[in-house]
Amino acid sequence: MSDRPRLLPLLGATRHGSRDAMTCLYRCGNACDHPVPNASDNPYFGDLVDAEVSRRGVVRAGAVGALVLGFGGSVAGALAGAAPAAAAPAAPAVPGAGEAAAPQGGVGSGALTFKPIPPNKLDTLVVPNGYDHAVVIKWGDPVVQGAPEFDLHGQTAAAQAQQFGYNNDFVGVLPIDRKRALLVVNHEYTNEDLMFPGFTSQDALSVEQLRVAMAAHGMSVVELERVESTGQWRPVKHGRRYNRRVTALATKFELTGPAAGSAWLRTAADPKGRTVIGTLNNCAGGVTPWGTVLSGEENFNQYFVGGDGAPAELKPKLARYGIPTDSRYPSGSRKWERADERFDLAKHPNEVHRFGWIVEIDPFDPDSKPRKHTALGRFKHEGANVIVAKDGRVVAYMGDDERFDYLYKFVSDKKFLPGSSSVARRHNLTLLESGTLYVAALAGNSAAEIDGTGKLPADGAFDGRGRWIKLVSGNRSYVDGMTAADVLTFTRLAADKVGATKMDRPEDVEPSLLTGKVYVALTNNTDRGKAGKAAADEANPRNLNKHGQILELVEDRDDNTAESFAWSLPIVCGDPADASTHFAGYDKTKVSPISCPDNVAFDATGNLWISTDGNALGSNDGLFATALEGPERGHLKQFLTVPYGAETCGPFITNDNRSVFIAVQHPGEITGASVENPASTWPDGDFAKPGVVVTWRLDGGPIGS
Ligand code: FEO
Ligand code: CA
Ligand code: CA
Repeated sequence: MSDRPRLLPLLGATRHGSRDAMTCLYRCGNACDHPVPNASDNPYFGDLVDAEVSRRGVVRAGAVGALVLGFGGSVAGALAGAAPAAAAPAAPAVPGAGEAAAPQGGVGSGALTFKPIPPNKLDTLVVPNGYDHAVVIKWGDPVVQGAPEFDLHGQTAAAQAQQFGYNNDFVGVLPIDRKRALLVVNHEYTNEDLMFPGFTSQDALSVEQLRVAMAAHGMSVVELERVESTGQWRPVKHGRRYNRRVTALATKFELTGPAAGSAWLRTAADPKGRTVIGTLNNCAGGVTPWGTVLSGEENFNQYFVGGDGAPAELKPKLARYGIPTDSRYPSGSRKWERADERFDLAKHPNEVHRFGWIVEIDPFDPDSKPRKHTALGRFKHEGANVIVAKDGRVVAYMGDDERFDYLYKFVSDKKFLPGSSSVARRHNLTLLESGTLYVAALAGNSAAEIDGTGKLPADGAFDGRGRWIKLVSGNRSYVDGMTAADVLTFTRLAADKVGATKMDRPEDVEPSLLTGKVYVALTNNTDRGKAGKAAADEANPRNLNKHGQILELVEDRDDNTAESFAWSLPIVCGDPADASTHFAGYDKTKVSPISCPDNVAFDATGNLWISTDGNALGSNDGLFATALEGPERGHLKQFLTVPYGAETCGPFITNDNRSVFIAVQHPGEITGASVENPASTWPDGDFAKPGVVVTWRLDGGPIGS
């Protein structure tokens, strides 16, 4: 089939779970149409982990208090270092750093008193009573100084490369001073059906339109100003000295770390294997303690064709990353090779290895070259979130978002330098260039009771122990038959070999900076338990898992560099009336239904906020919040819903606890919709446009309470 497959209405209902078929096509190149890339038969590490449990016991009393004391200094120091000296004309450098809400009643046990909103299918953004919201910036708005106004019928790559890109995902807000901040946003993917009037097929797009799509990918940096003294923020009109677009079309990236320059990363255009043009499918990310932003290159496979013509020895590696090797045009491919032949694997087989990395951008230095850090491994990176460990090394937690793929962490060699001096800043920019990469193996303590229904074990918890398995440390590989460059470039294959635990699509993995505990959004996995696929286990306790779960990971000795941990599932998602759901034991008649958790964030008091992607309960996607500690743990409440057809991305809560930012991604992405016949008219009443929204409390009080 030479053309991109057209949208088939039944596809979404029958094969793609809760997502619309159009989202499957554009978001992940119809990943569900392709075989699950992980066909490995990992050894079971349960015995090993069980032995560990009996040796240590699981004693965690008092851990939170100790950790708070331990982190108090480093968190404040880390946040204070967010804005570099050159960019911080007035003290304090960080709004809210000195005024951050002190946890009342204990970390993560803050009172979330807002009245939850009900599930709905409205084509509008819904927030609780007492809150307001506004669009901060949307697709096509000018970003770079002098950018042209958006022209729907006259889109050009040159204009789009200066305007806000499509399908905003990650949102980070980095303070400059009390009144100004930098908004950093990912543009994960494009939907040409909803971008170009008169769209008929991918093959019918002009090369210029393909280049518009490339320019609409990437990232944006936008300087914001506070609206009066409220929690609302808007783009500055003048100055815009930091404003920047990063695109798939033209932005140059430097490869760092042990795999940089290796044979796998060399191409005809870059024989040294050190410079990549563009970034692809940037999904989630994180703000680092040193004031940069990390961004995950996720479903990069869908941009490449010609797998059938790739060298034979490469084909198993391509297949493990979801690239079919028996056809020229996989289902859902984007035909970008028509605009740039580097996307044809038959001609440039190594180009694909230059995507699938964690990207770091310094938004305070608009002239800096963004980097791709090979030391953090290559997979379908959802994102990366960093915490400073007790000894000063930094730890990045990461998920590989694919059915049956893995959970990872990276521990730096060097230690974080607090402060905003130029010396500290230069040093901290090197932290992700060398370190140790681990993958997780988990085992439950009620394994015999797990039957795939989600029935809670007799000990009252889905819980157990886990180990971080070392894959590579600097140039030293711990995986038989693979060099360090092999492990880092083909991390999935390395992790298969060491027996990592197959998870239900690990998306956002984020440590709470207040407790050091790590929270993992496991979105769903409707293939769990199917014939020939891994069956339910205690960490992934439901077969045909439609609604997903949240995993809490507590490192041993409260040390984020530890090689073993305890874990549990505080939330097993779904309709609370469904017996297979679990909300940390909280009264289920009082919690909001939630499905398909994707991104997580923390407010200033340590409560957990969760956004969803692909709600399988019939409502629009939304944003939820729950306390993590104390009697309110598990009291999950819905804070907002996004418009029809959209997904809730971001989210980001400012340090002063007064503003919640979210990204409304793919509004109106419903099979059959177009610019002329939109399924959503958000936000302007004409056709659907992705955009970033800020929500604040009308009385100026802290969010949530
Ligand atoms: Fe782009 Fe894993 O969501
Ligand atoms: Ca258990
Ligand atoms: Ca996501």
